[in-house]
Amino acid sequence: MPVLRIKGGTPLRGEIYASGAKNAVLPMTAASVLISGKITLTNCPRITDAETSAEIIKALGGCAEFDKNTLTIDCSGLNLTRIPQRLCEKMRSSITFCGPLLARFGCIGFYEPGGCVLGKRPIDLHIMGFKAMGAEVVEERGKITLKGSLKGAEINLPFPSVGATQSLMAAACLAKGTTVITNPSKEPETLALTDFLNACGGKISFYENRVEIEGVEQLHSAKARVIPDRIEAATYLCAAAATRGKITIRGITLSELGIIGDVLKETSCILTEKENGIFLKAPQQLNSVNEITTAPYPGFPTDLQPQICALLSLAHGKSIVKETVFEARNRHIGELIKTGAEIAEENRSFIISGVDCLKSAGLNAYDLRGGAALVIAALAAKGTSEIHNPHHIFRGYEGLIQKITSLGGNIEIL
Ligand code: EPZ
Repeated sequence: MPVLRIKGGTPLRGEIYASGAKNAVLPMTAASVLISGKITLTNCPRITDAETSAEIIKALGGCAEFDKNTLTIDCSGLNLTRIPQRLCEKMRSSITFCGPLLARFGCIGFYEPGGCVLGKRPIDLHIMGFKAMGAEVVEERGKITLKGSLKGAEINLPFPSVGATQSLMAAACLAKGTTVITNPSKEPETLALTDFLNACGGKISFYENRVEIEGVEQLHSAKARVIPDRIEAATYLCAAAATRGKITIRGITLSELGIIGDVLKETSCILTEKENGIFLKAPQQLNSVNEITTAPYPGFPTDLQPQICALLSLAHGKSIVKETVFEARNRHIGELIKTGAEIAEENRSFIISGVDCLKSAGLNAYDLRGGAALVIAALAAKGTSEIHNPHHIFRGYEGLIQKITSLGGNIEIL
């Protein structure tokens, strides 16, 4: 089994480009099945989850081909309305194909989605929305079948679920009548999906706390550029901060980084806007951050919680990080402790007492962002660390080894 080997202790220096956002390209690819025509997505990250999305489209009878970072999709020839179980189980985002397929074909069979184990990760909000739009739901032996021609509905999400908002919004584009989703996800990736669907002829309007979708007869071909990946960029900024380095990340702005930039400044990092990029210079001594609580956008993103825990392990003083989105996004904590981090866990809060330095260790990646946190810790630690199960990390970080190497980091895959 492959292993990442990292020799830490070198400050990261230099310049990299932010890749296209994993959590934008996945719902855009899924929504493409609504359109019987050609879709061109540029700035696509070459990550395994994006490859899996293309595989799902091909398994359904469509075409999806990468040419470097451009993905060309054509779903005119779609002839299957069942997503193979092995593909459902490869990633959570397989669920966002269901709404579009149901809307286009009136029937879809699928299985419980896989992906990072961060807690139960039910799909009840997706199902609740499909039922509200008139779908009949049959669940037997793990297989779920949705049937029915969708009509506009009022859907109130008790939690602003990203996936449920995206799947229901896409499905509503072809429903008969108007759908209103209240308390929707406001993540930039959801807004990017809205822009993409509207470019395809959708009629979606986002308001303060609701999104209105007016159903249309059909959608048409379009070309769209995937927005930069704020979580990937922030991960490298944390790595630069943890190694006392200084880097520039091109292709993303401070405003796209949002609250993450404020937190990095609170640790005493210098963070400035450059033309078409962000520059970070780490302080000699990182400062702790009183309390960070993860929350739906515009709150602190849960997808950066593991990485900021790794960074704050080296910050002078005590920091508290509270995870409120997922009930079990904590498997990285035990691994960080192996590197000498001092972290106590109470319910879903992590109390981090900063240490002067981390030490190398044999580590296990259990999920995508937890694995990224271990890369940060290993780059900062003195000595050579090994990270097992790096496939989790390759799901969401394009060119991880090349990017870290170009910043002077010592990383190789064995
Ligand atoms: C998306 O997952 C992202 N994945 C996740 O990123 C991200 O952590 C999450 O949104 C929150 O921002 C993609 O976009 C592909 P949710 P999703 O539905 O849609 C509960 C990464 O590392 N919930 O907003 O699954 C759920 O259990 C990944 O890039 C229900 O209870 O997130 C969780 O506690 C990890 N019922 C909370 O809502 C439902 O039907 C947030 O889930 C759906 C969700």
